[in-house]
Amino acid sequence: MIETLDIEITQTKESRLPQIDFANIPFGRVFSDHMLVAHYSGGKWSKTSILPYGNIPLSPASSMIHYGQSIFEGLKAFRTDGGETLIFRPWANWERMNQSAERMCMPQVPKEMFVEGMRQLVGLDRGWVPSNPDSALYIRPFLFATDAALGVRPSEEYIFMIITSPVGPYYNNPLHLKIETEYTRAAMGGVGSAKAAGNYGAAMYPAKMAQQQGIDQLIWTDAKEHKFLEEAGTMNMMCVIGDTLITPPLTSTILPGVTRDSFLTLAKDEGFKVEERRISTAEMIEAIEQGELKELFGVGTAATTAQVAKLTFEGNTYELPPIEGRVISNSIGEKLLRIKKGQEEDLHGWNTRF
Ligand code: COI
Repeated sequence: MIETLDIEITQTKESRLPQIDFANIPFGRVFSDHMLVAHYSGGKWSKTSILPYGNIPLSPASSMIHYGQSIFEGLKAFRTDGGETLIFRPWANWERMNQSAERMCMPQVPKEMFVEGMRQLVGLDRGWVPSNPDSALYIRPFLFATDAALGVRPSEEYIFMIITSPVGPYYNNPLHLKIETEYTRAAMGGVGSAKAAGNYGAAMYPAKMAQQQGIDQLIWTDAKEHKFLEEAGTMNMMCVIGDTLITPPLTSTILPGVTRDSFLTLAKDEGFKVEERRISTAEMIEAIEQGELKELFGVGTAATTAQVAKLTFEGNTYELPPIEGRVISNSIGEKLLRIKKGQEEDLHGWNTRF
């Protein structure tokens, strides 16, 4: 563990900032000037460095490449109207990263390295935090195994890094989702609740099959019976049936989303009825057919509040209620965004401000 954070900073000689057209940036394709790097070896973390963004040398035998010990996080920094920079709930992502690390036999990332390192990195690249309304600086911390060894065992060496990327919304339009009942994202006792890189790679083939039919993303169902809704891989799922906001409970197959938690907290604050419970596919379809399904949407750091306009299940496609009338997701989604941008009081102390 490290007690205080002593960061060695090497600044870029020439910023790429003047070349960036902030009005037209595809998600996650443009990276800010600097990155944070720390190495773990012999049971200890090295000094943390901030360097110009660039490629890193890696052994082709790095165990992360072969056996997938690789985890990541996603969070965002916002610019306030007064020009300050806010990072939303970095402590929550630090805790989740360490839960993922535990599950994947990887070392714990010290809090100072994660939170203070991130603050210094974002502070140095504060010019990259977009000010246009739908945009933010996406922050991607990640940890991966670097032992040059082909034996299947936990690596002894790791690299922790943070890169940042100015982004707009992950999804630009209301979504057409499909309830997936053939393939599985995660099984009980597996790594579904860890933010493990392999979860995302494994989900690509079923998502690609659906995309070939014009569907944007999948809502996964439980591995055992394919009867209960889980999450969508890029976001947690929520719905409003009648007047109640419902989301599947956190199990070993669902990522404990920071946006999910924030959304539920604000909905309870506002006095909406909230239930964390299993939702069966039968209940969802019956609610649609009876006009009781009022809202269906995903929540995530990248996805923000992503409205679902159409839902496909077992070959039938259902048109969902108009998005303008969705009281809970629209009001809570907007409130959350205003808190993140410092436009509304941060009653839960979620923002780190600098
Ligand atoms: C996030 O919302 O930060 C994610 O990690 C989802 C996705 C971009 C993989």
